[in-house]
Amino acid sequence: MSVHKEVKRVTTHVLQAMKHDGEKIAMLTAYDYSTALILDDAGIDILLVGDSASNVMAGHETTLPITLDQMIYHASSVVRAVKRALVVVDLPFGSYQGNSKEALQSSIRIMKESGGHAVKLEGGAEVRESIERIISAGVPVMGHLGLTPQSIYKFGTYTVRAKEEAEAKKLLEDAEVLEAAGCFALVLEKIPAQLAKQVAEKVRIPVIGIGAGADVDGQVLVVNDLLGLTKGFKPRFLRQYLNLYEEINGAVKAYIGDVKGKDFPNEKEQY
Ligand code: KIV
Repeated sequence: MSVHKEVKRVTTHVLQAMKHDGEKIAMLTAYDYSTALILDDAGIDILLVGDSASNVMAGHETTLPITLDQMIYHASSVVRAVKRALVVVDLPFGSYQGNSKEALQSSIRIMKESGGHAVKLEGGAEVRESIERIISAGVPVMGHLGLTPQSIYKFGTYTVRAKEEAEAKKLLEDAEVLEAAGCFALVLEKIPAQLAKQVAEKVRIPVIGIGAGADVDGQVLVVNDLLGLTKGFKPRFLRQYLNLYEEINGAVKAYIGDVKGKDFPNEKEQY
């Protein structure tokens, strides 16, 4: 079912209507112009310029090293490609945790310098003041609860969060705090499906899951994982639609063979 396929531009209001009408929201990450062009043309609803760029684009082990300038570079490349999708940009680690003024300044830089349409940040009640201040400046904010990779050194592992009752209760409360603070949507990462269902039923804003089961309002994946570019990364929640690693590897081997065998270029491929 795709009631909102014909909308010219996905806005936060369109997403709210999709939740209301029971139409699932499809979201993917994007970090560059060429990929964003394809994803937008295919009809994706939200493109997230995720700080996972730190991992899949820059090869870092965690999301912590990526800078605000680097996020703005990735986001502006994505924005130039997009006609329809809502572009959400991650506030990177260290650009908002200090205080709400810093959070606002970083958000304003993202909006002004990249042309993105909204920002995302990690955390619950502890970032409420920052969220309110960013929204009061007219910038839509998406929340992010559950596994929040910017806190990996606090968690110690990337395993499923909120399996224990106390953490599940805190997550439910945090979801309500984020809704009350004015977030237009919420990402839930790697939590039990039953808990994610409870959150999606409790809050009126759209809830987008990654490793959070089917009973939420939409799904998000890292595009490199979906396309099979991240060799060996196969968490249970991931559905891999292509094996681009093998495809590209094969194509490059064929090219190398053609060059070395003096088969490329041929007469038709020269001037
Ligand atoms: O940075 C990212 O890719 C994310 C998704 C996992 C939601 O935050």
